[in-house]
Amino acid sequence: MLDKVKELIVEVSHFNASTKEELETFRIKYLGSKGLLKDLFAEFKNVDADLRKDFGQALNTLKKTAEEKVLEIATSLENSTEEKSIYGDLTRPAEPIELGSRHPISIVKNQIIEVFNRIGFTVSEGPEIEDDWHNFTALNLPEYHPARDMQDTFFIEQAGGKFNSDLLLRTHTSSVQVRYMEKNQPPIRTISPGRVFRNEDISARAHCIFHQVEGLYIDTNVSFADLKQTLLYFTKEMFGKSKIRLRPSYFPFTEPSAEVDIYWGLETEIDYRITKGTGWLEIMGCGMVDPNVLKNCNIDPTKYSGYAFGMGIERIAMLLYQIPDIRMFYENDKRFLEQFKSII
Ligand code: PHE
Repeated sequence: MLDKVKELIVEVSHFNASTKEELETFRIKYLGSKGLLKDLFAEFKNVDADLRKDFGQALNTLKKTAEEKVLEIATSLENSTEEKSIYGDLTRPAEPIELGSRHPISIVKNQIIEVFNRIGFTVSEGPEIEDDWHNFTALNLPEYHPARDMQDTFFIEQAGGKFNSDLLLRTHTSSVQVRYMEKNQPPIRTISPGRVFRNEDISARAHCIFHQVEGLYIDTNVSFADLKQTLLYFTKEMFGKSKIRLRPSYFPFTEPSAEVDIYWGLETEIDYRITKGTGWLEIMGCGMVDPNVLKNCNIDPTKYSGYAFGMGIERIAMLLYQIPDIRMFYENDKRFLEQFKSII
């Protein structure tokens, strides 16, 4: 009997397991409630009295060895699985996915595009660095035309510190419309969203970089009434407001020209502030494309006529979201940007 226990001690001390299951089988075999040790302890009473001491000690050694073995192997299995898994603990819950948000300028730009898409306008784009022809001359603004001063221009500095008066940062996306007309014959229905640059002092209301959407429609028999109807449709869709007024204005590339105001209302204190107590808000410029512009772009003004309009995206976004300072769009402050998370 004693010899058997001694053999078991040797066996147990040499035991090793490479999986948790193997170890568990071992544990049950020796230490389980129906295990070998339980049986051996039950044998105790049958052992001769003079052998009981040795037998008891041997049994205790066996029990201790088995327990220590289980603990030792369990610890090493635990450590080795951690080392093996390059992915860490795969059962751990995943980190929450942080969703980004669109910039308010993109949100509003996409909304404007969507409204005009629905009535057949396509989107056209062009370069931000322009030449004099596309930004000014073709648009009925020849050299030394005083109206060039309406848009303070950044000219491109060349090597040696010289300014090239033919290369500039576009001051409006009307330049894209010129490029579009040069390549396409009417019917033309296109809007040109994009970034524009003006050499202006930065304040809460103005910035040297901003965004525009300009529209162009050219076909036979296009009239001012068509322009007005399109603008009315736009203001209804975009702002839910259905009262507009056109004030006579001047742009070199359109004749007649007008400034578009929408009736915003005077319901809240903010309405009073942003409309200066009048209820009216200016949102864009527009007009019938000047025949000279059509001629410059190889479109026959005796056959075709058209309208154009242009608006600043920042201004529209400031109205829609009641943003008090234009500089907030460019500061990349997460507290500002995260407010637009829910809008796509
Ligand atoms: N290009 C003008 C601007 O940037 C806007 C405009 C476009 C006005 C088309 C009339 C017609 O100020």
